[in-house]
Amino acid sequence: MIGFVPLTALVIIAECSSRKMTLFSLLMSKLPLLWVIFASVITVLVVVVVAIPKLFHIAQSLFYQWFCPIPQFKSYGRWAVVTGSTDGIGRAYARELARRGMDIILLSRSLSKLQNVAAEIEKEFKVMTRVIDVDFTRTDIYERIRQELDGMDIGVLVNNVGMSYPFPEFFAEVPDGDKKFMDLITCNNVSMMMMTRIVLPAMAEKKKGIIINLSSLSGLCPVPLLNVYASTKAFVESFSRGLASEYKRKGIIVHLVTPGYVATNMSGIRTASWVVPTPEKFVRSDLRCVLHLTHTGGYWFHNLLVEGIRFLNYCVPSSALWIMWFQLAPIRAKALRKQKEKQK
Ligand SMILES: NC(=O)c1ccc[n+]([C@@H]2O[C@H](COP(=O)([O-])OP(=O)(O)OC[C@H]3O[C@@H](n4cnc5c(N)ncnc54)[C@H](OP(=O)(O)O)[C@@H]3O)[C@@H](O)[C@H]2O)c1
Repeated sequence: MIGFVPLTALVIIAECSSRKMTLFSLLMSKLPLLWVIFASVITVLVVVVVAIPKLFHIAQSLFYQWFCPIPQFKSYGRWAVVTGSTDGIGRAYARELARRGMDIILLSRSLSKLQNVAAEIEKEFKVMTRVIDVDFTRTDIYERIRQELDGMDIGVLVNNVGMSYPFPEFFAEVPDGDKKFMDLITCNNVSMMMMTRIVLPAMAEKKKGIIINLSSLSGLCPVPLLNVYASTKAFVESFSRGLASEYKRKGIIVHLVTPGYVATNMSGIRTASWVVPTPEKFVRSDLRCVLHLTHTGGYWFHNLLVEGIRFLNYCVPSSALWIMWFQLAPIRAKALRKQKEKQK
């Protein structure tokens, strides 16, 4: 491809001397042809430098998520810690890790739900469990968690706990917004930072460990009407990528997951489909690629969405914003209508 430039120059010089024309008049007569050559070179450059590695990356991700066996995580340590583990994606991580023989420490708000999930895991997978009931919207819980986890051989930490808005809404109009936004940041970000502070030093000492951080597609670009939620997820992306780079040489895998919709309480989607997987299907797909990918959508369709959003952000930065807006505005309108009907 680099050969195009000297080749074109040679052709021009040869023509100049054979027709006894000035360089300028020849260039002017060949202008359309030169444009075609220039456009072709740029197109070939873009395909080789950008598209082929991207397509290779997408194909590689699909291969891992479809065909790789789920690794034996026990070799990283005896226990897995999962935050927000009584429902949805967190519960699915806890069950899948237990299925592979890990003992599980479950952290969530409601003690009775924790005890139910723990009993179910112990009975089904014949592993040990511990439960810690904590509210991650509080900041005074970490000393207790530190004490409870002290001295345990932790191989995997899943920073999954998260909360969102009750429904998409303008920043200043979110009901009880001051408290809601404080809770969102404390639950989605402070929990991840503090749980990592508690668990990572021992992992670094033994030079192995896996930290799985749950972000969201909405962390990849600003999201109108879910602005604070999306901002907390952008923090997760930045935090995880920085941490991965700091601790790669110390044997620690930091795996960032940016899912699209999964059929859970948070998304409010009850029926799973090929674009909205069940939490179990999503987690199995993600665990297959933990050792191979530092950042993934977690599920094949969500990988494509991640690449699509990146592409839009790069080519037309405001287009992803508009797509989000047109998707969320009707959901907001429907939620407000329902609220009004209830008040009648
Ligand atoms: N579902 C999706 O479509 C989707 C998409 C992108 C990203 N994500 C991310 O994936 C993660 C899990 O989402 P999910 O859909 O599985 O959520 P979910 O079904 O609502 O489950 C949330 C879990 O977190 C616990 N929890 C919530 N608030 C808590 C608090 N303040 N303190 C302690 N525990 C708390 C809940 O337990 P209790 O009920 O016992 O409190 C529950 O076990 C979140 O980080 C979310 O942002 C989800």
